[in-house]
Amino acid sequence: MAEPTSENQVPGSVASETWALDRIVTSGADDIERAAEAALRPKRLEEFVGQPVVRDQLSLVLHAAMNRGTPPDHVLLSGPPGLGKTTLAMIIAAELGTSLRVTSGPAIQHAGDLAAVLSSLTEGEVLFIDEIHRLARPAEELLYVAMEDFRVDVVVGKGAGASAIPLSLPRFTAVGATTRAGLLPAPLRDRFGFTGHLEFYEDDDLERVLLRSARLLGVELEQPAAAEIASRSRGTPRIANRLLRRVRDWADVRGDGRLDISAAHAALKVYEVDELGLDRLDRAVLRALCTRFGGGPVGLTTLAVSVGEEPETVETVAEPFLVREGLMARSPRGRVATEQAWRHLRLQPPELPGTLFDSED
Ligand SMILES: Nc1ncnc2c1ncn2[C@@H]1O[C@H](COP(=O)(O)OP(=O)(O)O)[C@@H](O)[C@H]1O
Ligand SMILES: [Mg+2]
Repeated sequence: MAEPTSENQVPGSVASETWALDRIVTSGADDIERAAEAALRPKRLEEFVGQPVVRDQLSLVLHAAMNRGTPPDHVLLSGPPGLGKTTLAMIIAAELGTSLRVTSGPAIQHAGDLAAVLSSLTEGEVLFIDEIHRLARPAEELLYVAMEDFRVDVVVGKGAGASAIPLSLPRFTAVGATTRAGLLPAPLRDRFGFTGHLEFYEDDDLERVLLRSARLLGVELEQPAAAEIASRSRGTPRIANRLLRRVRDWADVRGDGRLDISAAHAALKVYEVDELGLDRLDRAVLRALCTRFGGGPVGLTTLAVSVGEEPETVETVAEPFLVREGLMARSPRGRVATEQAWRHLRLQPPELPGTLFDSED
């Protein structure tokens, strides 16, 4: 953790407007792994691995706008965590040759906060709103007027005497990111001219992500090790990069420094990444579904409570991958474990003969 060095980094010590604005604009990205991630982020669209559909669509949107000399339509990016939404927002600004302002739904507590951010934008800038589905309703309403008419109505006064003064904004491009596109109210969703949905990555794309990251980290990653890490990364570049750093740790401390297949196996074992790449939450959810609810169907909230998690976390973080891997299915009556889930956990499914599934020895 960096020490607060300059006078405006200690929260509350400087009550200036600038400080407040800084907080609003940057607090969406305060991930502990931010620095490590930032170093590995592709900077241009052509470096962005995989996602051929979204990349192609986005490339068209950006080039068409650049040819016309106008800022592009607003862009909404949706998909599970770690698939490249923030990276793409940064790429959009870089490709357009403009700057990026970053904020997030939870960072904006009052519509006034958002009005301040919007009115500080300059012509053609990209405003990235992470977790846009978590914007409070008044801020959301202000945002869609701003996106549609490039205007904010600043309310002056209170009660019956209050009046709204329209303030026109420069043309900007909003880039929203969400793990739950379905939660965005239609009026807001409709203001985005383009929506890109990011899918889980194929293993060979993750392998390319890993080889690229290794090159940037200045380490030599052997191909079989890259393939092994890729296949255990939950279809997610963020996880692939994280596992790569853990394999490098293992190689440095317990191995001979080489990032080969045996280092990969050993490190993945230490970090309890199973052969499908399921992490602790995935396994907890799956195990609860099988052992506490007899394989379901069970409602999302009940399932989430039983593993001590927020329903939103289970729904956006664990579920998409479990569904993609065919371990969990969504039915009208709730979540159900598939036969493959029982098999993966080496548990006895209630309705199947016992000889099929021996317990682990
Ligand atoms: N297509 C990609 N190619 C290479 N690296 C990627 C790609 N997508 C994501 N990453 C890496 O994965 C990490 C997480 O990506 P990020 O954009 O922060 O995901 P999100 O915002 O969707 O949670 C970043 O370090 C980024 O470098
Ligand atoms: Mg992000």
